[in-house]
Amino acid sequence: MASLRCIKCGTEYPLGKARYRCDCGDLLEVAHDLDSLDVSRKLFDSRLGSLKWPYSSGVWRYKELILPVDDKFIVSRPEGNTNLYCSTKVSKYVGHENLCMKHEGENPTGSFKDRGMTTGMTAAKMLGAKVVACASTGNTSASMAAYAAMSGMKAVVFIPEGKIAFGKLAQAVAYGARVIQIEGDFDDAMALVQEASEELNMYLLNSINPFRLEGQKSISIEVVQQMGWKVPDWFVLPGGNLGNSSAMGKAMMELNELGIIDKIPKIAVIQAEGANPFYKYFQGGFKEFKAMKADTLATAIKIGNPVSWRKLEIVMKWCKGTVEQVSEQEIVDAKAIVDASGIGAEPASCATVAGVKKLVEKGVIKKDESVVGILTGNVLKDPDIVINYHQGKLEGLKSKYANKTVKIKPTLAEVRKAI
Ligand code: F0G
Repeated sequence: MASLRCIKCGTEYPLGKARYRCDCGDLLEVAHDLDSLDVSRKLFDSRLGSLKWPYSSGVWRYKELILPVDDKFIVSRPEGNTNLYCSTKVSKYVGHENLCMKHEGENPTGSFKDRGMTTGMTAAKMLGAKVVACASTGNTSASMAAYAAMSGMKAVVFIPEGKIAFGKLAQAVAYGARVIQIEGDFDDAMALVQEASEELNMYLLNSINPFRLEGQKSISIEVVQQMGWKVPDWFVLPGGNLGNSSAMGKAMMELNELGIIDKIPKIAVIQAEGANPFYKYFQGGFKEFKAMKADTLATAIKIGNPVSWRKLEIVMKWCKGTVEQVSEQEIVDAKAIVDASGIGAEPASCATVAGVKKLVEKGVIKKDESVVGILTGNVLKDPDIVINYHQGKLEGLKSKYANKTVKIKPTLAEVRKAI
């Protein structure tokens, strides 16, 4: 039987009660009884391309490893089944041939959050919740709003005022969530939503909720399956609240324990220079974790006090991974290349590519190693950044790869000149 287990003191709690933290104050995780699970590569392969509910989802395909729950509770769009792309243009830019990008922007609401939201919302339904809540830099709120609408629950989202990308805000509003703008940043919103959900009986669907991370585990499991159960040498992904990178590590630990994989991938977490508390913690040898005031144009990862830093520390020590930071200029340039390759992704996602470039240059990622980078969100999430970059209007930054639009008089002669 699976249970909720404290990552620090190991105290266990039953799955069937809403709880986000241990009595000792630390984070909880879903502990599966791996010995009793009857899972194999063959089982998961037999569900590939399935039209059968819920296995058509790239999350529920791995149901036994994700959440042992009655199918009647499952809320699924379905999510996952996202593609892996290799691009000559991006490879050339980062100086590494063996790079694939998994595009999580292909999920139903345009980000990887849907993988965690299907499990989070399923748990909410199982626990009989009526109202769900989250703080968000945008994508979690977009995803939660959609899944709540589908399951007839009320959604309340707390967002930092004026600091979320337009596409994401538009989604939360469109899907009918109650949108509360906080005079403060994401970290203020996160603190408030924890208090508010406790007091006002709302089920909290941030990644502090251990069920969310179970769904997000499926990103790396799906990659490994897509690669014929070969494990890449590196997974590279952006880090904000640090839930996704923790989930990726947990998935790999479990597959390793089950004998489904025979190699441990190294995980590289990329933070923006202005929102890099975990980078500093890593650099300082995990001595003292210090929250900070965050600032970056990659608003998805503008987080100074990430919830899951302890979980990620465990993962980093296990996989001997690394943490890198990238500048605003490096993020926007990498984004221009990812976009111009025809793949396209939002700024935080492109921290992945900027990070790969840096790690290749530093020799941390070796020439012969295989790399899978995660693109976490869709290009249309943040149209302002795209337009401002290409018009040379991002303050203090150069638009090295600008693709300027041209305005002409409606004559053939002018068209000829323009092209
Ligand atoms: N990339 C994107 C596009 C995101 O939206 C987020 C997080 C991350 C990366 C970082 O993942 O937090 O698990 O380390 N967005 C959250 C939100 C915080 O509210 O949508 P993380």
